[in-house]
Amino acid sequence: MKFSVAIAGLLSVTLAHPENLSRREVQRRSAISKRCEPSAANFNRKRMEKRWPGGGNTTYQIQAEAPYFDSIQNSTCVLSPITTEGPYVWPRSQTLRQDMSEGQPGVPLWMDIGVIDVTTCEPLPNVLLNFWHCNATGSYSSFTGLSPNIGFVELLDQLGIDVEDFEIGVTDLHTDKTTFHRGMWPTNDGGVMEMKTTFPGFYSGRTLHIHVQAYTDWTLHDNGTVSSGNIVSTGQLYFDESLSAQLMALEPYASHTQINRTTNSIDSIYEGGLEGGYNPVFSVVAADGKDYENGVIGFITIGVDPNADGVDNSM
Ligand SMILES: *[C@@H]1O[C@H](CO)[C@@H](O)[C@H](O)[C@H]1NC(C)=O
Ligand SMILES: *[C@@H]1O[C@H](CO)[C@@H](O)[C@H](O)[C@H]1NC(C)=O
Ligand SMILES: *[C@@H]1O[C@H](CO)[C@@H](O)[C@H](O)[C@H]1NC(C)=O
Ligand SMILES: *[C@@H]1O[C@H](CO)[C@@H](O)[C@H](O)[C@H]1NC(C)=O
Ligand SMILES: *[C@@H]1O[C@H](CO)[C@@H](O)[C@H](O)[C@H]1NC(C)=O
Ligand SMILES: *[C@@H]1O[C@H](CO)[C@@H](O)[C@H](O)[C@H]1NC(C)=O
Repeated sequence: MKFSVAIAGLLSVTLAHPENLSRREVQRRSAISKRCEPSAANFNRKRMEKRWPGGGNTTYQIQAEAPYFDSIQNSTCVLSPITTEGPYVWPRSQTLRQDMSEGQPGVPLWMDIGVIDVTTCEPLPNVLLNFWHCNATGSYSSFTGLSPNIGFVELLDQLGIDVEDFEIGVTDLHTDKTTFHRGMWPTNDGGVMEMKTTFPGFYSGRTLHIHVQAYTDWTLHDNGTVSSGNIVSTGQLYFDESLSAQLMALEPYASHTQINRTTNSIDSIYEGGLEGGYNPVFSVVAADGKDYENGVIGFITIGVDPNADGVDNSM
């Protein structure tokens, strides 16, 4: 236990955002988040009503092109502050698509995401959202040769890399060209997008999470690749512990017994994401209106500052 706490501490120092935000900056972001809260709640309600007039328990067909929504939440304005992009960022494997599940086993997850401009609290169209996360047993595509059951520092040690020399986005640890659970898609005219994937599992030292980056300035090339300029936000999205516990008891998640799962409450990066009034936890509804185990719709509103400097990817 002591050992893993030490690793987690070292990891957060190594991998977290290199600069600490000043108290003033945290307060500024918190104030923005609070200010946009009513708009975020209203945005969510409109999305829900569009899909479910009357808000009933209709069983519906899931359509990749048409995002839909859940009950009103007043704490979904996210400015993903001091969060790291982590060691498994791999732009080369990111693909423009609305279904990034690639047949990986697990509970289907539809992410319904709204983006608002925090300077106006209005929906922001044509923001490219870029996602990546591990599969049901903790492996990231493009890094499938790395064990999800070994702490990152130990992993580096095994690879003969000094932790001091490791740099996110620079040190190349990729092992292959697989692309599962990596995808990107822009928000529509209403500032909303949807991505289908598989509910993530876990790997050593981290709670369940999905990485997300938002780009306001991006170009699709003829060869299918995307070049993106301004990264306005980097963050990680989470789930409530009760939902995670319920789903992790199912196969294939349940057979991941080599390590114990790190929960939200002991994950150092999760705590950082909640600081200053940000709430990067998905609101969820069962896709069939009954049982999360058959599929989950997760929705969240992300606030971004389109004028943010792309170099500082903390916002
Ligand atoms: C950030 O804050 C932590 C905790 O207060 C401190 O240990 C660390 O040295 C700070 N890092 C920088 C780069 O200022
Ligand atoms: C919707 O379905 C859930 C689960 O079956 C049920 O508990 C709830 O009462 C229903 N709500 C309405 C408004 O019918
Ligand atoms: C939403 O707002 C209501 C009323 O202000 C409050 O009681 C509730 O705790 C809030 N919910 C969250 C998740 O913040
Ligand atoms: C997750 O990916 C790894 C690496 O490709 C694979 O070995 C494992 O079987 C996958 N997990 C599941 C549940 O399929
Ligand atoms: C795709 O096209 C862009 C723009 O022409 C180019 O920069 C990039 O190298 C190409 N990528 C591949 C994999 O061909
Ligand atoms: C998981 O935690 C339990 C309780 O602390 C412990 O007995 C067990 O050995 C742990 N399992 C692994 C794989 O670390």
